[in-house]
Amino acid sequence: MIIVLAPNADTSAVTAALQGLGLWTRLLTGEEGPGLLEVEPHSSRVPHALIRSIAGVAAIREAKSAHPRVDAMPQTWSLPTRAGGVIELGRETVLIAGPCAVESQQQIRDSAKLVASAGARLLRGGAYKPRTSPYSFAGAGTPALQWLADAAAEHRLGVVTEAMSEMHVEAVAAFADIIQIGSRNMQNFALLGAVGRTGKAVLLKRGRGATVEEWLCAGEHLLVHGCPWLLFCERGVTGIGNETRNTLDLGAVALLHHALNLPVAVDPSHAAGRRDLVVPLALAGKAAGADVVLVEVHPEPARAKSDGPQALLPDQLLELGQKLDLDVTVPRAQDLPPYTSRYPEFYKKSVAERCRQLSTQLGLSPAAQRFLRTGTLDMAIADKMSENVVTTFALPMALGLNFRVNGRDYIVPMVVEEPSVVAAASNAARMVRATGGFRGDATASVMTAQVQFDNVPNVELGAKLIEERRDAIIAAANAAIPRMVARGGGCTDVDVRVLDREIGILVMHLYVDVGDAMGANVVDTVAEHVAPLVREWIGGDIGLRILSNTPLRRICHVECDVGSDFLGGERLADGIARASRFAELDPFRASTHNKGILNGIDAVAVALGQDWRAIEAGAHSYAGLGVDYRPLATWQRTDAGLHGTMELPLAIGTVGGSTQAHPGVRTAMEIIQTQSARELAVVMAAVGLASNLAALRALAGEGIQQGHMRLHARKADLAHGKRGDAA
Ligand code: MEV
Repeated sequence: MIIVLAPNADTSAVTAALQGLGLWTRLLTGEEGPGLLEVEPHSSRVPHALIRSIAGVAAIREAKSAHPRVDAMPQTWSLPTRAGGVIELGRETVLIAGPCAVESQQQIRDSAKLVASAGARLLRGGAYKPRTSPYSFAGAGTPALQWLADAAAEHRLGVVTEAMSEMHVEAVAAFADIIQIGSRNMQNFALLGAVGRTGKAVLLKRGRGATVEEWLCAGEHLLVHGCPWLLFCERGVTGIGNETRNTLDLGAVALLHHALNLPVAVDPSHAAGRRDLVVPLALAGKAAGADVVLVEVHPEPARAKSDGPQALLPDQLLELGQKLDLDVTVPRAQDLPPYTSRYPEFYKKSVAERCRQLSTQLGLSPAAQRFLRTGTLDMAIADKMSENVVTTFALPMALGLNFRVNGRDYIVPMVVEEPSVVAAASNAARMVRATGGFRGDATASVMTAQVQFDNVPNVELGAKLIEERRDAIIAAANAAIPRMVARGGGCTDVDVRVLDREIGILVMHLYVDVGDAMGANVVDTVAEHVAPLVREWIGGDIGLRILSNTPLRRICHVECDVGSDFLGGERLADGIARASRFAELDPFRASTHNKGILNGIDAVAVALGQDWRAIEAGAHSYAGLGVDYRPLATWQRTDAGLHGTMELPLAIGTVGGSTQAHPGVRTAMEIIQTQSARELAVVMAAVGLASNLAALRALAGEGIQQGHMRLHARKADLAHGKRGDAA
């Protein structure tokens, strides 16, 4: 393109304005010029009206492009596939994956399953293979097209396959959603014409020695002959060494995407020629602007008939899908296996495999699957959750397994930095499961609000008035929370205590059933609403109006039996009972004993977005209610082993608070699968009791250091930069 400057135009001002739009220019001189600016070929594409609006630009002369159709091609495209569904190319990151060659019906079926589970939308595989040596495997031929299409259809995948010669174009077009033109055929113009005439979308690989201009011109050939949409695919150009098969030209990827606004894919498999570099190069390609990533994968690369060394292993493909943040298929509810908390050998699997198993067994929503893959909290949400936010801060989310409570299995999400907590609780839950699991119940979710009155002239009279006007106070309290009342909750009781006669301090408690909420806001509202009314009657000053973190009417009880044989013998059972007695006799031990319980409860609380500080405050205050600070859980010997029992207040909710906002909390709620705050409280208490059992078993047996500290050492290694087996 040539830009004609107006007489007296400020050339440098015009040049700067053009650069601001992404246009790079050269001032033509001598016979060509003056007064003409030539726009460099790889500048951004900018509407002419914008250029004309710059002061000093008189006119635009369009230089003839060798590829006007390519220049005008849209960057995005909706591709309906033969298998059903529409792929939004250019609007979502699309993964195309599959083996180099379709080798057998079974091999491509296995590949399709794998490819779908990684979140890919299109299955690739060659029925005809161009090979350097005439003795190499050259593809299974036309039958492979049917195998490929059938395998793709089973998983609603689109099909990408190569047309190598004009002879095959018709057959390929009958099965493919996108026809691939291979690198070696980029300038096979007869083939480009034949493929263009099929009216199919085309993936056009760049020749290994082709310039970008030659590549774009090859695209023009396709468009001229009727191709409706094409995807340029960078697959590496000839490099200067042999460490990698080719050199992935990320500059070309960025140029096509950002400057020329063209759809572009990367093929890191052919670029690298070795599987260990494929994932990093794929991510680099995406970062450079690739809308589509095309990789080779094989269910058993060691047996691949072609290009085995560059084929990803199944796990690597899953990792790539996760890193590209792809949505994986959500199974239908009726196809889901029964919910169980038994996931044997779960710890031996990779993180990707664990997520996949969890997603497929529970049918997790795409949002939950996305959170499992990324573990991230959107900064916009984080910014609303606190003040002065500068970043987010991640911790591991793990699963407490084997839990069975009141006859139902629960997979329990736990967020905690202490390494032994999840394994210990899961292990104890497995032992308890053998005798039927945990049993428990929780009172209604009744929270306590406190209203303090100071300088009350006659505290005895004030207390009496409050008792007498109990019904009026309850009515006033409920008037403040009509929605809670409509949901079946509300204020149910009032009581009053005189704290100091001399200076007239009196405290009124309001008891409010908060249903499935944690309830802090509800009871604080009630306290603030009722206080002025009561002050009218009793005089004095209104003091604090706030919940109590000792909610004595919100108590959870849980118990279990565990056989000595599952514990590891009678001696261990005796040891645990003695450890329990120690805690009953000594507050110094009881605090550590209770800490072990809260290890489990807090981890669940954090995962589920609960106010764990309130839980801690409630648990410790409850433990300290008697003469001495007590253990919350105790263990007694039985003929068969041990009976454990625990009681504590648990103010937790399944609605409101972080539950709604945090994607991790929503994911955890999907995993644990209960909406009832009371049910959840019992499960959390069971996790606490299991944690206590595991701690006492270790302490009564080999001591805490062996297992616990081994895991600590693993974490310390990480802190010092060693990855070791924790990696
Ligand atoms: C460590 O986090 C918890 C324990 O100290 C609990 C206990 O002693 O019971 C092991």
